[in-house]
Amino acid sequence: MSSVMDGAGVFDRSRDVIADHFDVIRATEGAVQDNLDLLVPIEKAWQPTDYLPDLESDNWRQQLEAFRQTASAISDELLVVLVGDMVTEEALPSYSVSLNGLVQDDEGTSPAPWARWLRGWTAEENRHGDLLNAYLRLTGRVDMRAVERTVHALIANGFNPKSRADPYNLLIYTSFQERATRISHSNVGKMASREGDANLARICALIASDEARHEAFYTRIMGTVLEHDPAGGILAFRSMLRGLITMPGKFMDDGRDADVFDHFAVVAQRVNVYTVCDYASIIEHLVTTWNIAGRAVTGTAAQAQDELCRQAERYERLADRMAATLERQPRVAFRWIRDRTA
Ligand SMILES: [Fe+2]
Ligand SMILES: [Fe+2]
Repeated sequence: MSSVMDGAGVFDRSRDVIADHFDVIRATEGAVQDNLDLLVPIEKAWQPTDYLPDLESDNWRQQLEAFRQTASAISDELLVVLVGDMVTEEALPSYSVSLNGLVQDDEGTSPAPWARWLRGWTAEENRHGDLLNAYLRLTGRVDMRAVERTVHALIANGFNPKSRADPYNLLIYTSFQERATRISHSNVGKMASREGDANLARICALIASDEARHEAFYTRIMGTVLEHDPAGGILAFRSMLRGLITMPGKFMDDGRDADVFDHFAVVAQRVNVYTVCDYASIIEHLVTTWNIAGRAVTGTAAQAQDELCRQAERYERLADRMAATLERQPRVAFRWIRDRTA
Protein backbone atom coordinates (compact mmCIF):
# COMPACT_ATOMS: atom_id res chain seq x y z
CA MET A 1 0.00 0.00 0.00
CA SER A 2 2.71 2.44 0.98
CA SER A 3 4.53 1.88 -2.32
CA VAL A 4 1.36 2.76 -4.24
CA MET A 5 1.04 5.93 -2.15
CA ASP A 6 4.70 6.75 -2.78
CA GLY A 7 4.23 6.22 -6.49
CA ALA A 8 1.22 8.57 -6.54
CA GLY A 9 3.24 11.11 -4.54
CA VAL A 10 6.06 11.05 -7.09
CA PHE A 11 3.51 11.47 -9.89
CA ASP A 12 1.91 14.48 -8.14
CA ARG A 13 5.31 16.06 -7.51
CA SER A 14 6.30 15.70 -11.15
CA ARG A 15 2.95 17.21 -12.18
CA ASP A 16 3.67 20.17 -9.90
CA VAL A 17 7.15 20.54 -11.39
CA ILE A 18 5.73 20.58 -14.92
CA ALA A 19 3.08 23.15 -13.91
CA ASP A 20 5.88 25.34 -12.48
CA HIS A 21 7.82 24.95 -15.72
CA PHE A 22 4.80 26.15 -17.71
CA ASP A 23 4.66 29.24 -15.45
CA VAL A 24 8.27 29.97 -16.41
CA ILE A 25 7.48 29.39 -20.10
CA ARG A 26 4.68 31.97 -19.80
CA ALA A 27 7.18 34.34 -18.18
CA THR A 28 9.42 34.05 -21.29
CA GLU A 29 6.68 35.57 -23.46
CA GLY A 30 8.47 38.94 -23.60
CA ALA A 31 11.67 37.27 -24.83
CA VAL A 32 9.67 35.31 -27.42
CA GLN A 33 8.10 38.58 -28.64
CA ASP A 34 11.56 40.21 -28.82
CA ASN A 35 12.89 37.31 -30.90
CA LEU A 36 10.01 37.03 -33.38
CA ASP A 37 12.22 38.92 -35.82
CA LEU A 38 14.18 35.67 -36.18
CA LEU A 39 11.35 34.76 -38.56
CA VAL A 40 11.73 36.30 -42.01
CA PRO A 41 8.73 38.42 -43.18
CA ILE A 42 6.78 36.49 -45.82
CA GLU A 43 7.39 39.11 -48.53
CA LYS A 44 11.15 38.74 -48.03
CA ALA A 45 11.26 34.96 -47.62
CA TRP A 46 12.59 32.63 -50.31
CA GLN A 47 10.24 30.10 -51.85
CA PRO A 48 11.18 26.72 -53.37
CA THR A 49 10.31 28.01 -56.87
CA ASP A 50 13.18 30.52 -56.64
CA TYR A 51 15.70 27.64 -56.69
CA LEU A 52 14.12 25.30 -59.24
CA PRO A 53 13.87 25.34 -63.04
CA ASP A 54 11.11 27.70 -64.20
CA LEU A 55 8.60 25.35 -65.82
CA GLU A 56 6.48 28.27 -67.04
CA SER A 57 9.25 29.79 -69.12
CA ASP A 58 9.65 29.27 -72.87
CA ASN A 59 13.02 27.59 -72.38
CA TRP A 60 11.86 25.27 -69.58
CA ARG A 61 13.27 22.24 -71.40
CA GLN A 62 16.78 23.69 -71.46
CA GLN A 63 16.52 24.78 -67.82
CA LEU A 64 15.32 21.35 -66.76
CA GLU A 65 17.98 19.57 -68.80
CA ALA A 66 20.75 21.73 -67.32
CA PHE A 67 19.37 21.08 -63.83
CA ARG A 68 19.27 17.32 -64.41
CA GLN A 69 22.71 17.40 -65.98
CA THR A 70 24.38 18.87 -62.88
CA ALA A 71 22.44 16.43 -60.66
CA SER A 72 23.52 13.43 -62.76
CA ALA A 73 27.02 13.56 -61.28
CA ILE A 74 26.20 13.32 -57.57
CA SER A 75 27.07 10.11 -55.75
CA ASP A 76 24.66 7.54 -54.37
CA GLU A 77 25.95 8.29 -50.85
CA LEU A 78 24.98 11.92 -51.29
CA LEU A 79 21.55 10.89 -52.61
CA VAL A 80 20.96 8.66 -49.58
CA VAL A 81 21.83 11.34 -47.01
CA LEU A 82 19.76 13.86 -48.94
CA VAL A 83 16.74 11.54 -49.01
CA GLY A 84 17.12 10.85 -45.26
CA ASP A 85 17.25 14.59 -44.56
CA MET A 86 14.31 15.26 -46.88
CA VAL A 87 12.17 12.54 -45.28
CA THR A 88 12.99 14.02 -41.86
CA GLU A 89 11.92 17.51 -43.03
CA GLU A 90 8.74 16.13 -44.59
CA ALA A 91 7.58 14.77 -41.22
CA LEU A 92 7.04 18.38 -40.10
CA PRO A 93 3.37 17.74 -39.13
CA SER A 94 4.61 15.51 -36.29
CA TYR A 95 6.98 18.18 -34.99
CA SER A 96 4.32 20.91 -35.08
CA VAL A 97 1.92 18.72 -33.13
CA SER A 98 4.63 17.98 -30.60
CA LEU A 99 5.64 21.63 -30.17
CA ASN A 100 2.07 22.66 -29.53
CA GLY A 101 2.62 20.84 -26.24
CA LEU A 102 4.98 23.71 -25.40
CA VAL A 103 3.00 26.52 -27.05
CA GLN A 104 -0.50 25.37 -26.01
CA ASP A 105 -2.45 27.25 -28.66
CA ASP A 106 -5.92 25.78 -28.21
CA GLU A 107 -7.49 27.88 -30.97
CA GLY A 108 -4.89 27.49 -33.71
CA THR A 109 -4.92 31.23 -34.50
CA SER A 110 -3.88 32.72 -31.16
CA PRO A 111 -2.12 36.12 -31.43
CA ALA A 112 0.11 35.27 -28.41
CA PRO A 113 3.89 35.45 -29.13
CA TRP A 114 4.50 31.72 -28.58
CA ALA A 115 1.65 30.78 -30.94
CA ARG A 116 2.85 33.23 -33.59
CA TRP A 117 6.34 31.76 -33.33
CA LEU A 118 5.11 28.19 -33.77
CA ARG A 119 3.04 29.05 -36.86
CA GLY A 120 5.82 31.15 -38.40
CA TRP A 121 8.39 28.45 -37.67
CA THR A 122 6.14 25.76 -39.18
CA ALA A 123 5.60 27.88 -42.31
CA GLU A 124 9.35 28.41 -42.77
CA GLU A 125 10.15 24.75 -42.11
CA ASN A 126 7.46 23.64 -44.56
CA ARG A 127 9.53 25.00 -47.46
CA HIS A 128 12.47 22.73 -46.56
CA GLY A 129 10.67 19.49 -47.33
CA ASP A 130 8.95 21.07 -50.36
CA LEU A 131 12.23 22.24 -51.91
CA LEU A 132 14.16 19.01 -51.27
CA ASN A 133 11.21 16.96 -52.50
CA ALA A 134 10.99 18.97 -55.74
CA TYR A 135 14.76 18.82 -56.23
CA LEU A 136 14.84 15.04 -55.83
CA ARG A 137 11.84 14.51 -58.12
CA LEU A 138 13.25 16.66 -60.92
CA THR A 139 16.64 14.96 -60.85
CA GLY A 140 15.08 11.62 -61.77
CA ARG A 141 17.75 9.95 -59.63
CA VAL A 142 15.60 8.38 -56.92
CA ASP A 143 12.57 6.11 -56.63
CA MET A 144 10.17 8.84 -55.53
CA ARG A 145 7.38 6.44 -54.66
CA ALA A 146 9.64 4.58 -52.23
CA VAL A 147 10.69 7.93 -50.74
CA GLU A 148 7.07 9.10 -50.42
CA ARG A 149 6.13 5.84 -48.77
CA THR A 150 8.90 6.42 -46.24
CA VAL A 151 7.55 9.89 -45.47
CA HIS A 152 4.03 8.52 -45.12
CA ALA A 153 5.20 5.83 -42.70
CA LEU A 154 7.33 8.24 -40.66
CA ILE A 155 4.40 10.60 -40.08
CA ALA A 156 2.11 7.66 -39.29
CA ASN A 157 4.69 6.10 -36.92
CA GLY A 158 5.14 9.34 -35.02
CA PHE A 159 7.85 11.21 -33.25
CA ASN A 160 8.89 11.06 -29.62
CA PRO A 161 11.32 13.72 -28.40
CA LYS A 162 11.14 12.08 -24.91
CA SER A 163 9.92 15.34 -23.44
CA ARG A 164 7.64 13.62 -20.91
CA ALA A 165 5.27 16.60 -21.21
CA ASP A 166 7.91 18.95 -19.76
CA PRO A 167 8.21 22.15 -21.83
CA TYR A 168 11.88 22.61 -20.79
CA ASN A 169 12.69 19.26 -22.39
CA LEU A 170 11.05 20.36 -25.64
CA LEU A 171 13.10 23.56 -25.68
CA ILE A 172 16.33 21.66 -25.05
CA TYR A 173 15.42 19.13 -27.73
CA THR A 174 14.66 21.80 -30.35
CA SER A 175 17.83 23.77 -29.54
CA PHE A 176 19.81 20.57 -30.08
CA GLN A 177 17.92 19.48 -33.15
CA GLU A 178 17.98 22.78 -35.05
CA ARG A 179 21.75 22.85 -34.66
CA ALA A 180 22.01 19.21 -35.76
CA THR A 181 19.95 19.83 -38.90
CA ARG A 182 21.91 23.00 -39.64
CA ILE A 183 25.16 21.00 -39.51
CA SER A 184 23.71 18.20 -41.63
CA HIS A 185 22.26 20.44 -44.39
CA SER A 186 25.38 22.55 -44.44
CA ASN A 187 27.61 19.48 -44.89
CA VAL A 188 25.35 18.02 -47.61
CA GLY A 189 25.69 21.38 -49.41
CA LYS A 190 29.50 21.25 -49.19
CA MET A 191 29.48 17.69 -50.49
CA ALA A 192 27.21 18.72 -53.40
CA SER A 193 29.59 21.54 -54.22
CA ARG A 194 32.57 19.12 -54.26
CA GLU A 195 30.59 16.77 -56.53
CA GLY A 196 29.76 19.60 -58.97
CA ASP A 197 26.09 20.29 -58.25
CA ALA A 198 25.96 24.04 -57.56
CA ASN A 199 22.13 24.03 -57.49
CA LEU A 200 22.00 21.53 -54.66
CA ALA A 201 24.84 23.31 -52.85
CA ARG A 202 22.80 26.54 -52.94
CA ILE A 203 19.61 24.79 -51.82
CA CYS A 204 21.28 23.15 -48.81
CA ALA A 205 23.08 26.33 -47.74
CA LEU A 206 19.77 28.17 -47.90
CA ILE A 207 17.98 25.63 -45.72
CA ALA A 208 20.93 25.57 -43.29
CA SER A 209 20.64 29.35 -42.89
CA ASP A 210 16.96 28.96 -41.85
CA GLU A 211 17.97 26.30 -39.34
CA ALA A 212 20.58 28.67 -37.90
CA ARG A 213 17.90 31.31 -37.19
CA HIS A 214 15.64 28.71 -35.62
CA GLU A 215 18.51 27.39 -33.53
CA ALA A 216 19.22 30.94 -32.31
CA PHE A 217 15.59 31.32 -31.23
CA TYR A 218 15.26 28.11 -29.20
CA THR A 219 18.73 28.47 -27.67
CA ARG A 220 18.03 32.05 -26.57
CA ILE A 221 14.65 31.18 -25.08
CA MET A 222 16.14 28.23 -23.16
CA GLY A 223 18.80 30.70 -21.97
CA THR A 224 15.97 32.91 -20.65
CA VAL A 225 14.43 29.89 -18.91
CA LEU A 226 17.78 29.25 -17.22
CA GLU A 227 17.83 32.86 -15.99
CA HIS A 228 14.41 32.35 -14.38
CA ASP A 229 14.94 28.81 -13.14
CA PRO A 230 18.58 27.66 -13.24
CA ALA A 231 17.97 24.57 -11.09
CA GLY A 232 14.95 23.37 -13.09
CA GLY A 233 16.68 24.03 -16.40
CA ILE A 234 19.84 22.19 -15.38
CA LEU A 235 17.89 19.17 -14.09
CA ALA A 236 15.90 19.02 -17.35
CA PHE A 237 19.08 19.24 -19.45
CA ARG A 238 20.64 16.38 -17.51
CA SER A 239 17.51 14.24 -17.83
CA MET A 240 17.51 14.77 -21.62
CA LEU A 241 21.18 13.77 -21.86
CA ARG A 242 20.81 10.64 -19.75
CA GLY A 243 19.51 8.90 -22.87
CA LEU A 244 20.76 9.59 -26.36
CA ILE A 245 18.85 12.48 -27.97
CA THR A 246 16.99 10.59 -30.66
CA MET A 247 16.81 12.04 -34.12
CA PRO A 248 13.38 13.11 -35.39
CA GLY A 249 13.52 10.66 -38.32
CA LYS A 250 14.16 7.67 -36.07
CA PHE A 251 10.92 5.85 -36.93
CA MET A 252 11.26 6.08 -40.71
CA ASP A 253 10.38 2.90 -42.57
CA ASP A 254 10.76 2.26 -46.29
CA GLY A 255 8.54 -0.86 -46.16
CA ARG A 256 11.42 -3.30 -46.53
CA ASP A 257 14.44 -2.37 -44.46
CA ALA A 258 13.35 -2.17 -40.81
CA ASP A 259 16.66 -0.44 -39.97
CA VAL A 260 16.61 2.07 -42.79
CA PHE A 261 17.12 4.99 -40.38
CA ASP A 262 20.21 3.35 -38.85
CA HIS A 263 21.55 2.54 -42.31
CA PHE A 264 21.03 6.16 -43.40
CA ALA A 265 22.80 7.32 -40.19
CA VAL A 266 25.77 5.06 -40.99
CA VAL A 267 26.13 6.67 -44.42
CA ALA A 268 25.84 10.16 -42.87
CA GLN A 269 28.62 9.20 -40.45
CA ARG A 270 30.84 7.72 -43.18
CA VAL A 271 30.62 10.76 -45.46
CA ASN A 272 30.95 13.21 -42.53
CA VAL A 273 27.54 14.78 -43.01
CA TYR A 274 26.44 14.18 -39.43
CA THR A 275 28.71 12.27 -37.10
CA VAL A 276 28.95 11.18 -33.50
CA CYS A 277 31.56 13.94 -33.09
CA ASP A 278 28.97 16.48 -34.23
CA TYR A 279 26.63 15.11 -31.56
CA ALA A 280 29.33 15.62 -28.92
CA SER A 281 30.15 19.10 -30.19
CA ILE A 282 26.49 20.18 -29.98
CA ILE A 283 26.32 19.13 -26.33
CA GLU A 284 29.55 20.96 -25.60
CA HIS A 285 28.22 24.05 -27.39
CA LEU A 286 24.97 24.07 -25.39
CA VAL A 287 26.74 23.56 -22.05
CA THR A 288 28.94 26.57 -22.85
CA THR A 289 26.27 28.81 -24.42
CA TRP A 290 23.86 28.28 -21.54
CA ASN A 291 26.70 28.95 -19.09
CA ILE A 292 25.84 25.79 -17.17
CA ALA A 293 29.07 25.98 -15.15
CA GLY A 294 28.35 29.54 -14.01
CA ARG A 295 24.81 28.99 -12.64
CA ALA A 296 24.35 29.35 -8.88
CA VAL A 297 22.58 26.15 -7.84
CA THR A 298 22.67 23.81 -4.84
CA GLY A 299 21.74 20.22 -3.94
CA THR A 300 20.68 17.86 -6.72
CA ALA A 301 20.88 20.67 -9.28
CA ALA A 302 24.54 21.23 -8.32
CA GLN A 303 25.20 17.51 -8.86
CA ALA A 304 23.49 17.72 -12.25
CA GLN A 305 25.58 20.80 -13.05
CA ASP A 306 28.81 18.86 -12.35
CA GLU A 307 27.58 15.98 -14.47
CA LEU A 308 26.71 18.30 -17.39
CA CYS A 309 30.09 20.00 -17.26
CA ARG A 310 31.74 16.59 -17.67
CA GLN A 311 29.40 15.51 -20.51
CA ALA A 312 31.52 16.78 -23.38
CA GLU A 313 34.47 14.67 -22.24
CA ARG A 314 32.25 11.63 -21.82
CA TYR A 315 30.72 12.06 -25.27
CA GLU A 316 34.08 12.58 -26.91
CA ARG A 317 35.23 9.19 -25.57
CA LEU A 318 31.94 7.62 -26.63
CA ALA A 319 32.18 9.34 -30.04
CA ASP A 320 35.53 7.72 -30.79
CA ARG A 321 34.19 4.28 -29.92
CA MET A 322 30.92 4.72 -31.82
CA ALA A 323 32.64 6.21 -34.87
CA ALA A 324 34.94 3.17 -35.09
CA THR A 325 31.94 0.81 -34.91
CA LEU A 326 29.91 2.78 -37.45
CA GLU A 327 32.76 2.95 -39.92
CA ARG A 328 33.05 -0.84 -39.92
CA GLN A 329 29.40 -1.25 -40.99
CA PRO A 330 28.96 -2.82 -44.43
CA ARG A 331 27.36 -0.93 -47.30
CA VAL A 332 23.70 -1.79 -47.75
CA ALA A 333 21.18 -1.54 -50.58
CA PHE A 334 18.70 1.33 -50.35
CA ARG A 335 15.26 1.01 -51.86
CA TRP A 336 15.26 4.82 -52.37
CA ILE A 337 17.97 4.47 -55.03
CA ARG A 338 16.66 1.35 -56.75
CA ASP A 339 18.64 -1.04 -54.56
CA ARG A 340 22.03 0.36 -55.34
CA THR A 341 24.33 0.21 -52.31
CA ALA A 342 25.67 3.22 -50.43
FE1 LIG B 1 14.17 22.19 -41.52
FE1 LIG C 1 14.56 23.10 -38.32
